[in-house]
Amino acid sequence: MKRTPEPELMDAPDQARAYAEADFKEPNRLFVNLFLELAIDTNVRNLIDLGCGPGDICIRLAGKLPGCRVVGLDAGPNMLSLAHTAVKQADLEARIELVLARLPDQTPEQRFDAVVSNSLLHHLPDPMVLWQSIRRLAAPGCRVQVMDLHRPDSPSAVETIVDAHAADAPEVLRTDFRNSLHAAYTSKEVLAQIEAAGLSELNLSRPSDRHWMVQGRLD
Ligand SMILES: C[S@@+](CC[C@H](N)C(=O)[O-])C[C@H]1O[C@@H](n2cnc3c(N)ncnc32)[C@H](O)[C@@H]1O
Repeated sequence: MKRTPEPELMDAPDQARAYAEADFKEPNRLFVNLFLELAIDTNVRNLIDLGCGPGDICIRLAGKLPGCRVVGLDAGPNMLSLAHTAVKQADLEARIELVLARLPDQTPEQRFDAVVSNSLLHHLPDPMVLWQSIRRLAAPGCRVQVMDLHRPDSPSAVETIVDAHAADAPEVLRTDFRNSLHAAYTSKEVLAQIEAAGLSELNLSRPSDRHWMVQGRLD
């Protein structure tokens, strides 16, 4: 099935709020658990989450990594404002910094021990923006973890996934999910992207029926 891009930013107030209120516990827990395995033998002092959205993954990671300073970066002011509220509620303002910035032009100068990103890639008109930003942000030995949806083979396979995982979700979220599956990159496309970015040391796996994950260490 051919890819159908969706808008880069999902920052209309209603859309951002519906996304922040959606139940992403299962994939977000999976993301954090797999990151903890990846970083098990390292002291992650600082980490950046690219396209952090409403901040749930930043908060979960900060909770599991008590010595780590977390930066959440996002280009959507409404999303980031929801992230600010969530970080304040979690009482993590001292360790989580939220930055309004758009990749690639506003990529921070700093280098990080870990760079993570969930569900950003399929929003980017040029996917190489993410992989090149990761290269720029990685300190030596950096742990990298990127997860996103895998584009199914056909529109009917998309509907099967939407029904399996969002049967009871509000229509606005079902539509977002459907559009995201149509906009997603396949594992094969992602492998070609990481090779073109000179990141072949990263490995790709399929941690669920609807996701791919790229992980590894950059020296
Ligand atoms: C689907 S949301 C994912 C949010 C979060 N990572 C999560 O897992 O829930 C994608 C996010 O990427 C942000 N985004 C899109 N293009 C961006 C860019 N060029 N630079 C920074 N953030 C961007 C959007 O504003 C949106 O919040």
